[in-house]
Amino acid sequence: MDTRLILPDDAGLRDAAAILRAGGLVGFPSETVYGLGGDARSDRAVARIYEAKGRPSFNPLIVHLPDAEAVARYAVLPADFERLARFWPGPLTLVLPLRADAGLSPLVTAGLDSVAVRVPAHPVTRGLLRAFGGPMAGPSANPSGRISPTRAAHVLDGLSGRIEAVLDGGPCAVGVESTILGLVGRPQLLRPGGVSAEALEAVLGPLATGGDAAKPSAPGQLLSHYAPRGRVRLNTRATEHEVGIGFGPGPEALNLSPAADMVEAAANLFHMLRLADGQAGEGGTIAVAPIPDSGLGRAINDRLRRAAAPR
Ligand code: TXA
Ligand code: MG
Repeated sequence: MDTRLILPDDAGLRDAAAILRAGGLVGFPSETVYGLGGDARSDRAVARIYEAKGRPSFNPLIVHLPDAEAVARYAVLPADFERLARFWPGPLTLVLPLRADAGLSPLVTAGLDSVAVRVPAHPVTRGLLRAFGGPMAGPSANPSGRISPTRAAHVLDGLSGRIEAVLDGGPCAVGVESTILGLVGRPQLLRPGGVSAEALEAVLGPLATGGDAAKPSAPGQLLSHYAPRGRVRLNTRATEHEVGIGFGPGPEALNLSPAADMVEAAANLFHMLRLADGQAGEGGTIAVAPIPDSGLGRAINDRLRRAAAPR
């Protein structure tokens, strides 16, 4: 795939929005760092984000929205919402309880029942979000383990050939990522960033620290991670009384990807775990066929190992 460099005029924003609507990926400038945008409602688009970044696990992604009013469609609003929304548009991300009817891909939240939302300030991002008209998943636009990009050229360095386009909005002004404030339970600073902790404490009072947004599986957060009720066996075929999840050709009624396509398998993962869980029920067993441990397969296997871990 040739990655197009798009200028952020009206025609360019329309082109980029059309790519997002078609399930494609667009690198976009924000005031903090460049992000990698995809439709947050599309399992396939979000699976492709993980694939392009080469992430070894499904870290939850930030959902970018055009204005604070849009947040209520996806998240349960906390008491201090109005006062915190005054930092928007800007480099603040709020982690809020996910609405059951949010309609977001479970891959965006990595199966958590919370969602990270942000209203970015960059005029190009805002123009893109308005033209797109939906929620946009957007991790930093770097391959996993590399430095976050602050120029369109950095995005091309890392992701050229793996994404449809990059919107060139020039250098980013802030250069560090957004501050992440956890508001599920007591307010917690999960990542320092473009909005200072002092500015948030002026609104909320003293913040708990020690959380780590890079490891949302830290104590307390993993508990809400979706896990099947029954047992999960990996790298195997189902016996007669088990519910099988297949990969590649096989007899299973539930199959992550009969064609052994990793993007399709990742896109189906959370839905099929849920279906299998419903069929297996309390005390039942889910048996998952082997999945190659490379590329997106590493993230899929990481998630499956967590589901299979003894609880
Ligand atoms: O400035 C930014 O925030 C940039 C621009 C592009 O908006 N985006 C960004 O995304 O830095 P990313 O994916 O590199 O970092 C998102 C962080 C991750 O560390 C992730 O663990 C955390 O947000 N996060 C997302 N959803 C979460 C949730 N439900 N609970 C806890 N942490 C969450
Ligand atoms: Mg990042």
